Amino acid sequence: MKIIAGNWKMNMTRRETLEYFERYAGLNPDKSGARVIFLVPYTAISTAVETGENLGFEVGAQNVYPAAAGAYTGEITADMIKDCGAKVVLVGHSERRTLFRESDTFINEKLRCVLDAGLSAILCVGETAKERENDETEGVLWRQITMALDKLPDLSKLIIAYEPVWAVGKTADGKSKKPATSQQIADAHAFIKTILTGFTDANDIPVLYGGNVKSETSGEIMRIPNVDGVLVGGASLKVEEFSKIIESSSALLN
Ligand code: PGA
Repeated sequence: MKIIAGNWKMNMTRRETLEYFERYAGLNPDKSGARVIFLVPYTAISTAVETGENLGFEVGAQNVYPAAAGAYTGEITADMIKDCGAKVVLVGHSERRTLFRESDTFINEKLRCVLDAGLSAILCVGETAKERENDETEGVLWRQITMALDKLPDLSKLIIAYEPVWAVGKTADGKSKKPATSQQIADAHAFIKTILTGFTDANDIPVLYGGNVKSETSGEIMRIPNVDGVLVGGASLKVEEFSKIIESSSALLN
């Protein structure tokens, strides 16, 4: 069973969300090979949850604030997310690390509060182009993972996504970035699995790949050893395309 997660980022009103899922229901992709998760804006969570109950997918948030309540204007707690029916929270996405300067310790706090609330967490890790050029990929992955997982009591609902920053999203002129090669993905995933052996009960933590995943490449990516699924940004906004990605995981069962 693979995990296919779509990260809508800051896109989709409630109306667009409804239209998306109407279309999705019509396409009815074969998801026998996948656990499907939609990571939607906070404002679309309830709408997505109501539709998802019949369509067999889980809904998640893209961020959380690590406190139970209080004077944190503009922020949202894990319990509020849970209250809307979401089951998953994305933590440490590279856009949050860069644009909002989130540190490894802050990400550890977020992860703790998501897992404490009984929700699943998808932790994103990955090196920048410069770090890869400087041969720092393994050091960065080791730091990001060990700091994020530090002193977490229960990792049973944790998912990790390897997302090399240089492969995620678009370039300044709007073009898709160069995807990682199969070898680069295989090496990073094998290394992440090795890091995880250092944590008790971390053996079954799924590791997804993210960065420019499309329906033409998703099947091949999910065949790479130690790749337990994909985290899809841009391509998850197009319902036909995302449905094909889901189908590509079912094709692996044959
Ligand atoms: P992308 O984004 O598929 O558009 O590269 C992936 C992500 O940000 O999770």
